[in-house]
Amino acid sequence: MKKKVILTYGTFDMFHIGHLKLLKRLAKMGDKLIVAVSTDEFNLLKNKKTIIPYDQRAQIVEAISYVDKVIPEYSWEQKIEDIKRYKVDIFAMGHDWKGKFDRLKEYCEVVYLPRTKGISTTSLKKSLKLFSSIDKEELLKAFDILDRLKTDLQ
Ligand code: CTP
Repeated sequence: MKKKVILTYGTFDMFHIGHLKLLKRLAKMGDKLIVAVSTDEFNLLKNKKTIIPYDQRAQIVEAISYVDKVIPEYSWEQKIEDIKRYKVDIFAMGHDWKGKFDRLKEYCEVVYLPRTKGISTTSLKKSLKLFSSIDKEELLKAFDILDRLKTDLQ
């Protein structure tokens, strides 16, 4: 019997629990999960600047046990070709893309999965930016004060 093939696309920058849960749910939907990871060049086209380079993002996704194969996503137009080449049964994306790929229903089943609440690469990048903007001398002074307070309380 033919294996049920699932295909998804994404950047997977600063790999987090939302990514992991999505891949786990996708793997359960079939027998073979293919993940197309967006290249750095394609991300620039989408106005996304990644922190982790493509090669590392691809290696991380490939190492996830739910994932069977990683391919590069380098253009908006490659999807139909990928679906045909890998004999894809289900094209799946997170809810943020709801309705955007309905035209692919001509080639395979198209599903949109709910996102994990409270986490995204965008929010991680914001936290990192906030942390980088803190004056490190001030931070060290604050830790010093905390240390002294702790000692006084003992
Ligand atoms: N995803 C998810 N739950 C989250 C974050 C992402 O299910 N909390 C899913 C997205 O819907 C997408 C896949 O993970 O199908 C890859 O998403 P990606 O855009 O790489 O991650 P985000 O954290 O959404 O990144 P950004 O904030 O840059 O959009």
